[in-house]
Amino acid sequence: MRVVSGIQPTGSLHLGNYLGAIRNWVSMQDEVEGECLFFLADLHALSMPHDPAALRAGTLEMTAALVACGIDPARSILFNQAQVPAHPELQWLLNGTARMGWLNRMTQFKDKSGKNREGASVALFTYPVLQAADVLLYQATHVPVGEDQKQHLELARDIAQKFNNDFASEDAPVFTLPEPYIPPEAARIMSLRDGSAKMSKSDPSDMSRINLSDDPDTVMKKVKKAKTDPEPLPSDAEGLAGRPEALNLVSIYAAVARRDVGSVLSEYGGQGFGAFKPALGELLIETLGPISERFTELLRDREALDAILATGAAKAREMAAPTLAETYRALGLLRG
Ligand code: TYM
Repeated sequence: MRVVSGIQPTGSLHLGNYLGAIRNWVSMQDEVEGECLFFLADLHALSMPHDPAALRAGTLEMTAALVACGIDPARSILFNQAQVPAHPELQWLLNGTARMGWLNRMTQFKDKSGKNREGASVALFTYPVLQAADVLLYQATHVPVGEDQKQHLELARDIAQKFNNDFASEDAPVFTLPEPYIPPEAARIMSLRDGSAKMSKSDPSDMSRINLSDDPDTVMKKVKKAKTDPEPLPSDAEGLAGRPEALNLVSIYAAVARRDVGSVLSEYGGQGFGAFKPALGELLIETLGPISERFTELLRDREALDAILATGAAKAREMAAPTLAETYRALGLLRG
């Protein structure tokens, strides 16, 4: 088993990232036999307008946040893409295999480019090919992500399959087909202001998300101000149908407490949000408090963070080399 996953270092780490992906990264370090590679997708950040100073600071902050969440650089390979040129190199090699039609279907491109398709960057369009390179480079078998990344992972599989078909023999494929690993209870954490939009780093309202760096008062305030409806909580999961905001809050509780929605409702069914919200706030504060403290501490030591990324990148470059060489060879590109 080989686990590979990434996160963009833009904005702060929020509860959706944590429950949808990072918490699984942490547990996979213990459960998986084989290497885990986790990276800051800083090259992906070029797909949207960005400020270089903010990207630099964001990359270090996200490194500290991941370590604070429990990613152990001694056991996992933690690095940023920009220190491993094999990522964009493999992307170019895969550009000949990826089809325009496949990329045209990517919903994230449609969402992020909005009405201004002509003004979107080329990087935003070709981004999923870089994402495919990110995982294929290391022969990833499992990719722990939230639901929103499923389509990108399917594309990575399509690219791997077509490349293997076109350039490799059946008994010696160049690329392993990666499987997405999506947590059933926290696949899609929604905004606290709108139960139909996912919780996101790019939402202009900070009240829409819980950041892992929020202090306890802010966490409680955000939970108490979260959008809800006037009905009390139902006693079973079916009763949440058509109530996206209520479903989201109960799902967050269930995911954080590692319980299922039914069990949370058997405790809180019949009660109003006046009782449920403070309980959820307390649970979040208890869970996030230690992470947030450690994050603040880690951020003080810039040199240690640089060293973590440099060590991880050196290992990643080494691990990437054989697949990259094999890809050049399969394509008939001479390299001396
Ligand atoms: P990013 O940075 O948007 O998000 C990082 C991880 O958090 C998950 N996630 C969520 N899960 C549940 N609910 C939410 N509201 C929520 N918001 C985010 C994402 O699914 C993701 O797992 N393109 C990727 C980064 C990337 C990558 C890769 C991932 C680049 N290369 C290769 C896996 C493999 C991204 O922008 O994730």
